[in-house]
Amino acid sequence: MKAIAVVPKTKNSVSILDMANPNFKENEVLVKVNLVGLDGTDKEIDEGIYGEAPGDERLLVIGHESFGEVEGTGGNIKSLNIGDRVVAMVRRPDDCLNCLAGESDMCLKGNYTERGIKGRHGYLSEYYVEEEKYLVKVPHELGELAVLLEPVSVAEKAIRMAFSVQKRMAWEPKLAMVTGTGSLGLITAMLLRLRGLDVISVDRSDDEYKAKILSQLGVTHFNTKKINLRDIPEKMGRQIDIIIEETGSSNVAAETPIVIGTNGVVVLTSITGGDKKIERPVDLVNLKMVLQNNTIVGSVNAHRQDFERGVNDLMAVKERWPGLLEKLITARYPPEDIRKALDSMSENIKVLIDFSIKN
Ligand code: BGC
Ligand code: ZN
Repeated sequence: MKAIAVVPKTKNSVSILDMANPNFKENEVLVKVNLVGLDGTDKEIDEGIYGEAPGDERLLVIGHESFGEVEGTGGNIKSLNIGDRVVAMVRRPDDCLNCLAGESDMCLKGNYTERGIKGRHGYLSEYYVEEEKYLVKVPHELGELAVLLEPVSVAEKAIRMAFSVQKRMAWEPKLAMVTGTGSLGLITAMLLRLRGLDVISVDRSDDEYKAKILSQLGVTHFNTKKINLRDIPEKMGRQIDIIIEETGSSNVAAETPIVIGTNGVVVLTSITGGDKKIERPVDLVNLKMVLQNNTIVGSVNAHRQDFERGVNDLMAVKERWPGLLEKLITARYPPEDIRKALDSMSENIKVLIDFSIKN
């Protein structure tokens, strides 16, 4: 079968190769891959600043946003049948307290693995094998939009973190800000609108295509080339109760504690593999955080419950804003064109590798 792999920590090493088709055991499921989405993490892996091959192998098969169809089931499989459509979870546990409690997204020791990212092959191959407990069944009505479920799960977890830390007080959030309008930013804006919040998005552009998506959602957009992030609450005449940071930039992440309002919560999600250093107004940051009872919480990966909520929310978004999710998928390439696909990411919202396109 075809597979797409990199030599981790080597810039632009991606290539397509031939691999043996996987065999599956009694407790495993064989999945035929239809689509795989690419994201900023894949980009960082391609740039050689993130990613790790399994054990002592040289190559890492990439791809962690998958959508496929069950093609074979081992004798012990109970909940899945041939023909079911599935999305696979990304992280696999180690033996820490959290992993043993079924929350490897909260792994304590850091010896977890992640398919397509850290120490375990991903889904960018024609087939993969996985245990039932890491597969999430998706309804047929969702169609190929199910390929958005993994990034949706990451957004779901970020929002869940915001609401769960805020249980420390009486709290009725009204206004949320999402920094970054990549696929994750747009998805997060959708989920926050679905929860009835007013939403602001910010990025460094006035992209017309995204502007249409945002206005359909009823999101207010600001271009931070034209207005300083710090001036937005005053411009809105309202305080910001939740910020979800998804630009991929630590510069923006470092600004968020200055922008968040009283009793507000900031959720950081950007994966920044570099080693940038900047100067910060730490007295101001500290003073605001203390006087305003602010919380900053980091959020990575997702729990199974976030995938499950994600399935429901994708269905709800599809019903409330028909055609909107489709607009997030702006490019698709056959596996042979992985180089082109990665290079096209900056001009796209979501780029897919589509195994059904014959080269
Ligand atoms: C993936 C997560 C993963 C994170 C860190 C993200 O792109 O969606 O599942 O935990 O990268 O490796
Ligand atoms: Zn762990």
